Amino acid sequence: MFDVLKLSSQVLSEQYNPTLFNLFYESCPWGFWTAHHYQQLVGFIVGIPFSHDFAKILMIGVDPAVRKKGIGSQLLKQLLTEFSKRNISTIELEVAVSNKTAINFYQKHDFTIVDEFSKFYQNGEDAYIMQWTAVH
Ligand SMILES: CC(C)(COP(=O)(O)OP(=O)(O)OC[C@H]1O[C@@H](n2cnc3c(N)ncnc32)[C@H](O)[C@@H]1OP(=O)(O)O)[C@@H](O)C(=O)NCCC(=O)NCCS
Repeated sequence: MFDVLKLSSQVLSEQYNPTLFNLFYESCPWGFWTAHHYQQLVGFIVGIPFSHDFAKILMIGVDPAVRKKGIGSQLLKQLLTEFSKRNISTIELEVAVSNKTAINFYQKHDFTIVDEFSKFYQNGEDAYIMQWTAVH
């Protein structure tokens, strides 16, 4: 868990209280995935269900040294599979409107922008709400 905290503080613009990570893991261990390269932590994703068919992705981060190699996609697909196994059909997340890389990343994985939150982040930046819906 210490490695995840360290990587998250390096790659996410928002800083999270360390106890939150334990809370997320304890409340939903199957929503917490990590990726390793030569035994080194290089990526993580955290998602949790909010109801029987709706879940949120709370964070995803990949070490800058190994980006654009499919690690983020692998983590996202793993989490989407876990959600699908549990019949969760709608998945949402927030992303900073300036974070073009992440927006591209999610669009590549069939997320679409459905709404916008004004001043969502600690720094006053707006967020897009992006959504993924399972195809039946
Ligand atoms: C977003 C993030 C997780 C992507 O991880 P990654 O391992 O680099 O992603 P992948 O290699 O699986 O990329 C998959 C697709 O995403 C898109 N993408 C990824 N990086 C991109 C970039 N720098 N510019 C444009 N598109 C990009 C591309 O469509 C890419 O497909 P391609 O390689 O066929 O072009 C990573 O950039 C990251 O950790 N960013 C900082 C943290 C962050 O912003 N998290 C999201 C907060 S909501």
